[in-house]
Amino acid sequence: MCGIVGYIGPREATEIVVGGLQRLEYRGYDSAGVAIYDPAAGLQLRRSIGKLGNLLQRIGREPTVGCLGLGHTRWATHGGVTEENAHPHRDASGSIVVIQNGIVENYLELKANMLADGHHFVSQTDTEVIAHLVGHYYQRTGSLEAAVRQAVAELRGGNALVALCIHEPDRLVAARLGNAGGVVIGLGAGETFVASDVPAILDHTRSLLFLEDHELAVITREGAQLSKLDGTPVSRQPVTMSWDPVAAARGDFKHFMQKEIHEQPRALTDVLRGRIDQDAGSVHLEDLRLDDAALRQVGRIYATACGTAWHAALVAKFMIESLARVRVEVDYASEFRYREPVLGADALLLAFTQSGETVDTLAAMEEARNQGVPSIAIVNAIGSQAARVADGGPLYLHAGPEIGVASTKAFTSMLVAAYLFALRLGQARGTLTAAQIRIALQALVELPGKAATVIERAVPVCEALAERYHRVSNALFLGRQANYPIALEGALKLKEISYIHAEGYPAGEMKHGPIALIDEDLPVICIAPRDHIYAKMLSNIEQVRARHGQVLAIGTDGDDQLAAKADRVILVPATIPLLQPVLTVIPLQIFAYAMALRRGCDVDQPRNLAKSVTVE
Ligand code: G6P
Repeated sequence: MCGIVGYIGPREATEIVVGGLQRLEYRGYDSAGVAIYDPAAGLQLRRSIGKLGNLLQRIGREPTVGCLGLGHTRWATHGGVTEENAHPHRDASGSIVVIQNGIVENYLELKANMLADGHHFVSQTDTEVIAHLVGHYYQRTGSLEAAVRQAVAELRGGNALVALCIHEPDRLVAARLGNAGGVVIGLGAGETFVASDVPAILDHTRSLLFLEDHELAVITREGAQLSKLDGTPVSRQPVTMSWDPVAAARGDFKHFMQKEIHEQPRALTDVLRGRIDQDAGSVHLEDLRLDDAALRQVGRIYATACGTAWHAALVAKFMIESLARVRVEVDYASEFRYREPVLGADALLLAFTQSGETVDTLAAMEEARNQGVPSIAIVNAIGSQAARVADGGPLYLHAGPEIGVASTKAFTSMLVAAYLFALRLGQARGTLTAAQIRIALQALVELPGKAATVIERAVPVCEALAERYHRVSNALFLGRQANYPIALEGALKLKEISYIHAEGYPAGEMKHGPIALIDEDLPVICIAPRDHIYAKMLSNIEQVRARHGQVLAIGTDGDDQLAAKADRVILVPATIPLLQPVLTVIPLQIFAYAMALRRGCDVDQPRNLAKSVTVE
C-alpha cells in the first residue's frame, strides 16, 4: 500500500518521480503528491486528491523544477482522503518533507506529546507526526541522518519512509522499520533512485539494493550508504534485476489485468523453465535450500497467504497431499500469526505471495522462524522481503511484474509452482515414481497451450455473458475439491473489480444455506470438469435448475451432457485433475473482467483496494 519514489541526480526529478508513481499507482490511488527541491526555486510541494492524473494536471499548471525530489501515492489509513492528508508532509519549520508507507501505531501518543510542546498539525495523518519528529531532532542534531535515526527509534509499527531536508540538498534519507513496506534503492551513473517497489525505477537502472528491516540509507548521487538503525554500518552488494521494463508497461492492452490474463500462457511456460527433466522424470527447483534428506523429514506443512494467494494455497493442499502424502493445513496469514500455532519440529511453512511484501504473510513467516520452522516462499517479486527471509529458499514464479490489482497470472503461476513443489516433495519422499512424474510433466508442458485455447474461447463468450448479466447484484460460484478454491477465486475476482456481491461455495454445501438465495435472477457459476466428483456436481446443477437459477457452467471438452444442462457453458481442454484448476479459473478471470468493463468499473484500480497490502 502507498507507493514511494525518490530521486537525486543531474536530471529533472519531477519527471522521474512522477514516472515512478505512474508505475506504482496500483499501490494506492486515494491521493498523490510530490516535493521537488531546487536551490533557486526552493521546496515545491504539489498534492492532489484522487488519481495521479489530477496531480499531473496540477503540475502542468504549476510546474516544479529541481534535481532532488520525492513523491507518494496514497492508500489512506489515518485520516480521510483530503489534500491536507496527502503526502509529502512537512515538519514544523517547513524545511523537511517526509513520505511514508505503513502505520505508526503510537502516533496518537507521539502527537499528544508534540501538541503539548506547541507543535501545530495540519493533517490527521501519522506521517505528519513523523515529519515533525524528524524536524524536532534536526533542530537538535543539525543532521538529517541523525534526525531520522532518532525519530524512527520512537516509532512503533511498520514503516518505510523517505525524508528530504532543504539544508542538505545532497541527500535523501530512507529508513525501514518492520515489514510494512519495502525500500529498494536503484543505483545509476551519478544518480540514485529510491522506491517502494522495483517497477518504479526499472526504466532507469537494474542495479538494486534492498533495505532490510531496521536499516537506514543515506542516498546521494554517488549511491547509498546503509546502516542499521543503531548506526552499525551495513555492507551489501547490489543485485541485478532481470525484469524487462517493457513487461511493466501496458502495451496495446486496455488494462493491465487484460494484459496479464493474456500473458498466462507465457507465464505458465516461464515457471517451468529449467526446472523439469522429462527424460529423467524429475523436478529440480534451483533456489530451494532443502535437500532430499530435509524434504523427507517434513511431516506437515502449513500453507499461508492472503487474498488470491490464499486460494492458491488451498489448491496446493490437494496437490501436496495427493502427490507427496504430507498433510497440509491452510491458514489466512492474518489469522495464523495471532493464533499461537503449534507447528512442531517436522513442520514446514509455505508462504504464497505475489508481491512478497504482504505484511501478514511476512509475519506468519516470522512466527515460523521463531518456532524454528523453515519456510519456503512461493513468490513472484524478485528480491522481495518474503524471498529474502525464506530460509528454505524462494520458489520464484518468474511471471514478470503483475500490476493489475486483481491477481491473475500470478495465481495460475502459483498453482503450477505449487504443483512442481508437490512433485519435488514426492520425488524426495519416494511417493512418486519417475514414470508418474513423467506423466505429470507431460501435462505441465501441455498446459500453456491449453491456457491459450481457454483464453481464445472464453473472451467472446464472457463478453456476451457480461452483456446479459452485468446488472445482477449477486452471483454464486460453486465447485468441489480442488475446484472449490476456484469458486472462491471466481467470486473474489467478480467482487473486487465489478463490485457485485459474490460468494464461492463448495457445491455440496449449497443446500445448507445458499440454496435459499436461488431464484431466476441469480447466476450460479458451476465449475464441473469431468473428474471423480463430476456426477455430484451434475446433481448440484440439477438442484439449481429446479429452483430456476441461471446455470453458467465451466466444463471440459466434449461434455455435451453439461452443455445441455447449463444455460451457458464454457468448455476448457482437459488435463490431469490436479492441474484442471489452472484452466477452469481462466474463464472466471475473463468473466470478472468483462463484467467490470461492461459496468464501467476501473478494472486496474478498483475502489478501496491496493495491490501490496503492507498494513494489517
Ligand atoms: C491484495 C491484492 C490481491 C492479493 C493479496 C495478497 O489483496 O489485491 O490480489 O492476492 O493482496 O497479495 P500477495 O502479494 O501477498 O500475493
